[in-house]
Amino acid sequence: MEESDFIQRQNKLASLMPETAIVISAAKHMTKSHDNEFLFHQNTHLKYLTGFREPESLLVITQKNGEGVKSHFFVRPKDDFAEMWNGKRLGIELTKEMFKFDYVYDITKAWDIIPALLLGHKKVACDWAEQPELTTKLLKIITSLSGARKKKEHKPTHLLNLSNAIGQLRLIKDSNELQFMRKAAQITNLGHRAAMSVCEPGKTEADVKSFMEYIFRLNGSEDDAYPSIVAGGKNALILHYVENNALLNDKELILIDAGSQFKGYASDVTRTFPINGKFDPIQKEVYEIVLASQKLAIALAKPGSTIPQIHKEVEKVLARGLLDAGLLTSNKEMSRESLEELLLEKDAKDSYALRAYYPHGTSHWLGLDVHDMSPYLDNDLNDLELRPGMVITIEPGLYFNKAHEQIKFKLPLHGIGIRIEDDILITEKGNEILSAAIPKEIMQIEEACKIDHKDFL
Ligand code: GLY
Ligand code: MN
Ligand code: MN
Repeated sequence: MEESDFIQRQNKLASLMPETAIVISAAKHMTKSHDNEFLFHQNTHLKYLTGFREPESLLVITQKNGEGVKSHFFVRPKDDFAEMWNGKRLGIELTKEMFKFDYVYDITKAWDIIPALLLGHKKVACDWAEQPELTTKLLKIITSLSGARKKKEHKPTHLLNLSNAIGQLRLIKDSNELQFMRKAAQITNLGHRAAMSVCEPGKTEADVKSFMEYIFRLNGSEDDAYPSIVAGGKNALILHYVENNALLNDKELILIDAGSQFKGYASDVTRTFPINGKFDPIQKEVYEIVLASQKLAIALAKPGSTIPQIHKEVEKVLARGLLDAGLLTSNKEMSRESLEELLLEKDAKDSYALRAYYPHGTSHWLGLDVHDMSPYLDNDLNDLELRPGMVITIEPGLYFNKAHEQIKFKLPLHGIGIRIEDDILITEKGNEILSAAIPKEIMQIEEACKIDHKDFL
C-alpha cells in the first residue's frame, strides 16, 4: 500500500463528516495477567486510516475553515532504553517521513495540543463503543472549550460517533485490501487441508489445531484472524468452542472454524469432515443439506441482494431438506405443511422452531475485523443491499442438540454439528468465492483426508 492510499482514506472520511475534527487512538496493550500482555493488535480503524502498527499513537484529522484537511499524528518518541526492553519505535522524524502526516508530535504532549486542534470545528467525532476513555476525555475538552465564549472561533457543540462513517468506507474493499484477503484465503486453504490430512482418531483437537496454525504461520500469516474452533464430535454444538483439547473419536465429525490473518486482513472459513476420513450415511445426508443451502446462498450473493433475504432462503432449504429426508418429525399428528410452518414462521415471541437447529445468522461483513465493523442498515433503516467490493461470509449450519419441544430429530443425529463457511467477494456480475480452493464436496474432502500431512511441510 502507498501512503497516498491512506491519505485518500483520511480525506474521504473527512468529507463524510464535514466541519468535524476526527480523533482515533491506537489500541491499548491488554494485560493477560500481572505484567504479562496479550499480543498487541492495532485498532482496526486506525490501521485502516494510517497503516501505523505501534501502540500509544493517536490520529487527529482536522478540517478548519480555510486550512483544508490536515493530519496530526502522535507517536512515542525514540528512547534507546525502552527500545532495548520492548522493541523498536519509529519515533517522530521517521513517522513523518514514512507516513506523510502533515504534523507529527510526541504522544506524551497529546493532551496539551489536542484542545487547540479541536477549536475551530463545530463537531468532534470518535469511536464511542471501542474507545470510551478517549470519548470521555474529548467530552471534557469540549466542555472546557465552551467556556471561551468571546473567542472568535467555532467551539465544538456535538460529539459524534464515527463508527457509521468509517464503517461505510470499510464496506467496499479496494484492490490492495482484496489482494490481502485473497492471500489470507489462500493460506487458510493450506491450513484447512493440512488439518484434514493430519486428523485421525486418537489424536486430539489440540494436535490438529496446532498443526493447522503452524501451516498458517509457515505460509506467511502473522496471526490467526480469531481463536480457532477445532471441535470434535458434540463439541461442534458449542458455537464458540474454545477449549480445543478433547480426544478425537472414530466415526465422529470434526468442525474446524479457523482463518489466517494476512497484513491485518481476516479470512473466516469453516469445514466439517469425518475424523476417520470417511462420512457415514447419516453424516452425509445432513452434510448435503447444509451444502445445498450454502450453494444456494452463494448463488444469491450478488449486487442488489440483502443479507436477511439470503438468510431466509437458507432457512427454507435447511427446513425443507430435513423434512424431505424424514430427519425431523413431530410427536403429534401434523401435516408436512404445518411442520414446515412451525419450523419457519415466527410465532408471537418472534421465534421459530428451526432456531433450535440453526441458531445463528448466515452472513457478516469480513475485512480487517472478522466481524467487520460496518453498518448493516442504511440511513432509513433498510437492510443494506450488497454492492461490488463488499466481502461477506456465508456460513449455514445444522446442530442437533436439544430437540424443539414439538419437532424431534432422528436420534442418530444427536451430537452432530455441521457448518460450512466461505468468504465471498461481491462483484459486478455476482461473486467470487475467495475460499473456493478449500475442499467442500464430500468426495474432495475424503480425498483431502487421505493426503500425507508431511506434504504440507
Ligand atoms: N469465526 C467466527 C464466525 O464464523 O463468525
Ligand atoms: Mn463467520
Ligand atoms: Mn467462522
